[in-house]
Amino acid sequence: MTKPKSMDDIIALLKRRGFIYQGSEIYGGAAGLYDFGPYGVELLNNLKQNWWKANVQARPDYVGLDSAMFKNPKVWKASGHVDGFADPLVECKNCNTRLRVDKELEKLGIFADEKMSEEEIKKLWDENKDKVKCPGCKKPEWSEPKKFNLLVKSNLGDFTEKNEEPVYLPGEACQGIYLNFKNVVDTCRVKIPFGIAQIGKAFRNEISPRNFLFRCREFEQADTQYFVKPHDNVENYQRIKQEQWGWLLSLGLKEENLKWHQHENLVFYAKDAWDIEYNYPSYGFDELMGIHDRSDYDLSQHMKFSGTDLNYFDQTANEKYIPWILETSMGLGRLFLAVISDAYNVETLNNGSERTVLKLNPELAPVKYAVFPLLKNKPELVEKAKEVFNKLSQKYVCEFDDNGNIGKRYRRQDEIGTPKCIVIDFDTLEDGTVAVRDRDTTEQIRVKIEEL
Ligand code: GAP
Repeated sequence: MTKPKSMDDIIALLKRRGFIYQGSEIYGGAAGLYDFGPYGVELLNNLKQNWWKANVQARPDYVGLDSAMFKNPKVWKASGHVDGFADPLVECKNCNTRLRVDKELEKLGIFADEKMSEEEIKKLWDENKDKVKCPGCKKPEWSEPKKFNLLVKSNLGDFTEKNEEPVYLPGEACQGIYLNFKNVVDTCRVKIPFGIAQIGKAFRNEISPRNFLFRCREFEQADTQYFVKPHDNVENYQRIKQEQWGWLLSLGLKEENLKWHQHENLVFYAKDAWDIEYNYPSYGFDELMGIHDRSDYDLSQHMKFSGTDLNYFDQTANEKYIPWILETSMGLGRLFLAVISDAYNVETLNNGSERTVLKLNPELAPVKYAVFPLLKNKPELVEKAKEVFNKLSQKYVCEFDDNGNIGKRYRRQDEIGTPKCIVIDFDTLEDGTVAVRDRDTTEQIRVKIEEL
């Protein structure tokens, strides 16, 4: 028997078992910032490696990149983020709750276009604000809607000293790819169509960070940007969408927890935009990955602002053009949450006891093998167990645990999703076999040490 999943329970497990900590916790925390603990970082790294393998190394037409986070401030002007990357906001004067106007209107079936001016949004809001409930109080008194830019300002050496524009942290990771398009074409043997992939941090001054890792102020994005000949977007876009869907399934996510959503109101850079949504426990279906047809917007903008010719010369067709870009962009924190939520189960066992288990794809599990001596106070068992640990840990992430009774040790490993527990007992000393217990079935088999 399994219990329905609740995000509060999942968050409690992630904190209790060292996956995720609140950022700056000893100072009272910092909204929208989280730290990955020892098990969290292992799982995160496994997700990144799996993504990199599938989207870069296993693809003849993709190459990887790791660009600097700080960029010339003009980049964010050219990208459109300085002027256009803003959420319209209202504040309840009664209880200080802040809400995003577009999200509230969307709940009423009204779509506010990203390109709308503050005046147009105000008109829409005024017509509908009486239907909007305030989550903080019963009698909201709304302020005028105001657009709030999401870019995070910083300062850096020369740029700040010369008192030019502020320097910004990346609002989206992909800009580094556009800045290096020419470098990659000039130095690598790539021909259009081809893709550049990158994992990079993004920072956004989200008004109301919420839902744990779902909406943070600092997060990591795994992006691919596929450069195609103008108008060669339709088939490639379809292929990319299907590939990303397939990759999510290959991680072990259940298909019934995924769905497509096409955007009605498009973000300023996109010509067409689809999300793959995940059915997060307690929150419901919401965005996991964005797939965007960005046309020639980005390279045209950077060519205009930088003065560098970003045209591509297509030798086969003997023509010059600005390539169009098809983007996939996924928040790794959201993927982390989806993978954990999918794997999370609370089961009642035959003996009536309950166990929490993460049935993670073994490739993603933070620890692959846990090695236990049956008894802590028998040096010959401990020594043998250490031998087994030393052997396996050359190749796999392993954990040695001699603390508490075996049942408790199994529960601890189930909660972090360790696929196999290996017990060194008195039979091991006799015949050189160990008990290998499977996480999902809880069944045990005996295996010779050299066959592990
Ligand atoms: N380069 C395109 C881009 O940044 P986006 O839809 O704004 O598009 C892409 O973001 C992905 O980044 C989203 O699908 C989501 O997974 C993740 N993401 C966006 N904002 C986030 C936030 N505040 N916290 C965590 N993840 C976020």
